[in-house]
Amino acid sequence: MPAPLYQLVYYSRNAVSRDGAGFEAEVASILAASRRNNEAAGVTGTLLFNAGVFAQVLEGPLDAVEATFERIQQDDRHGDVSLLALEPIAQRSFSGWAMGFVGRSAENTARFAEVGLSSGFDPAALGGQKVHAILRDLTVEEEAAAA
Ligand SMILES: Cc1cc2nc3c(=O)[nH]c(=O)nc-3n(C[C@H](O)[C@H](O)[C@H](O)COP(=O)(O)O)c2cc1C
Repeated sequence: MPAPLYQLVYYSRNAVSRDGAGFEAEVASILAASRRNNEAAGVTGTLLFNAGVFAQVLEGPLDAVEATFERIQQDDRHGDVSLLALEPIAQRSFSGWAMGFVGRSAENTARFAEVGLSSGFDPAALGGQKVHAILRDLTVEEEAAAA
């Protein structure tokens, strides 16, 4: 039997300057490392950046999810890492994504306003399930828009 799947949801405060090319280069480097490592570890998920906040979903076998999260927490490109949820799941929500990214269509204010993403995304108030649902919808949407 394959190892049971778990899902972890957290958010954190961005510690990288958001001006100019520096931020984009940092995000590109985070995504490149994530995709390489997560694929090897059997971890999938997605990463959102908005309003100074990162929110991320990681899913996979518990030991792989925990080892990945341990490493992420040590990263000084963000701070105040807050765990919203860690729970067993029946199936992956991001099976196609070693690490998806939501951020490219941040100008899509009408869509984002609905969930407070343009006015100030507040993952603590939303809770793990809501953050997971928002990230899943946005990741699928961005993928469709990019295609
Ligand atoms: C917001 C954020 C999310 C990250 N997500 C992941 C991730 O999903 N997987 C991963 O391996 N590294 C992730 N990282 C990067 C790790 O902190 C670390 O830099 C990386 O795993 C090191 O990989 P390397 O030793 O292969 O260079 C993330 C970093 C930040 C700041």
